[in-house]
Amino acid sequence: MTNDITNIEFGRDDEYEQSLRPKFLKEFIGQDSFISNLKVYIEAAKRRKEPLDHILLSGPPGLGKTTLASVIANEMNVNFKSTSAPVLEKSGDIAAILTDIEKGDVFFIDEIHRLRRNIEEILYSAMEDFSIDVIIGQGPSAKSLKINIEPFTLIGATTRSGMISSPLRGRFGINENLDYYDKNDMKKILKRSGNILGITIDDKAADALSECSRGTPRVANRLLKRVRDFAQIEGIGKISEEITKSSLNRLNIDNLGLNKIDIRLLKTMIENYEGGPVGAKTLAISLGEDPDTIEEVYEPYLIQLGFIKRTSRGRVATKKAYLHLGLDYIVKEETLFSDEL
Ligand SMILES: Nc1ncnc2c1ncn2[C@@H]1O[C@H](COP(=O)(O)OP(=O)(O)OP(=O)(O)O)[C@@H](O)[C@H]1O
Ligand SMILES: [Mg+2]
Repeated sequence: MTNDITNIEFGRDDEYEQSLRPKFLKEFIGQDSFISNLKVYIEAAKRRKEPLDHILLSGPPGLGKTTLASVIANEMNVNFKSTSAPVLEKSGDIAAILTDIEKGDVFFIDEIHRLRRNIEEILYSAMEDFSIDVIIGQGPSAKSLKINIEPFTLIGATTRSGMISSPLRGRFGINENLDYYDKNDMKKILKRSGNILGITIDDKAADALSECSRGTPRVANRLLKRVRDFAQIEGIGKISEEITKSSLNRLNIDNLGLNKIDIRLLKTMIENYEGGPVGAKTLAISLGEDPDTIEEVYEPYLIQLGFIKRTSRGRVATKKAYLHLGLDYIVKEETLFSDEL
């Protein structure tokens, strides 16, 4: 994987990220309509002295799914137990966690679209009836034993909500898709991070940084970290517009936050496939990148910018993409009539 500043998978959950992670709702910026509903759900559950409903959080990496799950546990004043779907292999792995849960705890499963079938089936009854069936023994003498567990809140996070089976999806009472943050919220996030790090960010610098942070808090914080280095060594100790612009230039990040891979992706579509349609897998192979990373990390932001469209026959680069790259756009009949997904 490319070790790139806007490659948001890189260095995930490092110490730096931990220090900037909001702990309570009052520190959590943006996602306003969901947060205002969430406050009601939390307050109502607290008054009833019941656990919160199960919550499914989906959206591209770095938008705050893990953060929000731990914030919810803090607000409910319960334990936060966290795992990731790929590490749950045997039914015993999940049974051990579930039987250890205390009343009302938040059990967080990251990458929940990657759950194995055997684990998923145990979760069904755990989520619905707060009980699990464990098989004791082997062969003809094997017995199924029902064990009650404490009522809890399952919070699942996924970057691929389409890959979640409908029986699992149907067991979540709250299902929320996190959006990219707008410029205003990104600015607030940057200012908050600057405060925590003890570094001043000029207003114009915050504008420039929020513009190229891909609407993603993790990217904003990572860019801030790099610009802070340049500011300290070469600049005046604070983050000015000038130092921000020169740092972004040196990091090969353009005014919309596109990095070398984004540019290469668009150019490959345009130069090798006449702007598409081209299949996601073919594109990934041409780029020598992992197809999942292309689909989960790069494409969503390019789609959000309106640079790529998904059609039933593959991806198409739009006029906007050509113009951004300074290329001439030639209208192709087949693109005009292609059906969008
Ligand atoms: N709403 C927010 N306000 C302030 N900071 C935020 C917010 N959301 C996320 N962050 C910051 O961005 C970082 C990344 O967020 P987080 O790890 O929760 O993303 P994620 O959606 O779980 O990503 P992934 O899909 O890769 O697991 C956090 O450490 C936090 O500092
Ligand atoms: Mg996460």
